Amino acid sequence: MAKRLVYLDNAATTPVRPEVLEAMLPYLGKAAFGNPSSAHRFGRTARAGVEEAKRSVAAALGAGVEPGQVIFTSGGTEADNLAVIGSALAARDRGGPFRVAVSATEHKAVLAAAHAVRHLGGEEIILPVSASGVVEEAAVEAALARGVAVVSVMWVNNEVGTIQPVAALAERCRAARVCFHADAVQAFGKVPVSLRDVGCTLITISGHKIGAPKGIGALIVRDRHAVEAIIHGGGQQFGLRPGTENVPGIIALGKAMELAAQEQAELARRVRALRDDLERRLLDVVPDAVIHGSQAERAPHVTNVSIPGTDSEALLMHFDLDGIACSSGSACSTGAVEPSHVLTAMGVPRELGVAALRFSFGRDSAMEDVDAVVAVLPRIVEKVRALAAVLHR
Ligand SMILES: Cc1ncc(COP(=O)(O)O)c(C=O)c1O
Repeated sequence: MAKRLVYLDNAATTPVRPEVLEAMLPYLGKAAFGNPSSAHRFGRTARAGVEEAKRSVAAALGAGVEPGQVIFTSGGTEADNLAVIGSALAARDRGGPFRVAVSATEHKAVLAAAHAVRHLGGEEIILPVSASGVVEEAAVEAALARGVAVVSVMWVNNEVGTIQPVAALAERCRAARVCFHADAVQAFGKVPVSLRDVGCTLITISGHKIGAPKGIGALIVRDRHAVEAIIHGGGQQFGLRPGTENVPGIIALGKAMELAAQEQAELARRVRALRDDLERRLLDVVPDAVIHGSQAERAPHVTNVSIPGTDSEALLMHFDLDGIACSSGSACSTGAVEPSHVLTAMGVPRELGVAALRFSFGRDSAMEDVDAVVAVLPRIVEKVRALAAVLHR
């Protein structure tokens, strides 16, 4: 019998849900392939689909979002860039501060966009975080006092799952009349994301984390004057994101968000039980393992754990050989294993940072997946530790 494969990398991506595929298929074929900007019936059919998807996206985010505030993008990365660079450009053009403040543990899409603002002649402020990954309030206050175009702090961190106090941050920014952006890519569908009570100006969503295909996302723009386009072309999407819309992707995102919003509480309950069970049993087997960010409020689908005396890449490869997919909690950009910027910002020592793994759960995860990890863990840890001991002798 073929070995059961275990996928515990749902924070990286998820498979397309059958309901989502079914919804998008007509828009790939002859039934509804038109260009939504065309005035004829083919175009009108596609436009109707896009408008319906905007209503679904807005509804999934709770009262307080209008369908007209949904700007579709090629994914989370583009939405983050539009939010950070677009709001900096808009502020500059109004004679405001050409300066952005982003937390140190943001996804690279936000951090690199902040660097791009600096390359364009502006400034970036990196906001430090506490040991559990929560952004420091005093640093936000200092940034606001200096004057910034936007404060960007993610709703849920993609590596450790830390939940940021976005409602309070949004409120503080609103009082200071500063745009607040929250990257909600890892939050939506995992924790309640209702914009009725949270006054963010801009919100990033990505489809492929919630059962839509890769290459579709959205930026919710609640104040059209807060951002300027960063790519240029026709007048689609109010000129904020020109280009013929990815209609099948948009339909898929609408459906995936509708389902994810309906199922959020139940999914959270299920994956939290699996995640907590994995952590408990992992600590039984490897008592010196360190779980990162567990002192703060965390999203239920992620755990990031360091196993002292090992390295992430070796662990990852051994798990893969055993048919278990997880993610390295470190960065391997230059050929050498480096601790991730998130763990470094949280003050995790280097030797633990290079020995981190992320397991992330999703709709298809089951207790057998946890059992499979726990069954092979002692053997893998022993092997990797023995090898590391030889190498460092
Ligand atoms: C928090 C966060 N922001 C942004 C992104 C980028 O989204 P996309 O892959 O759709 O470009 C990701 C994806 O890993 C993410 O986890």
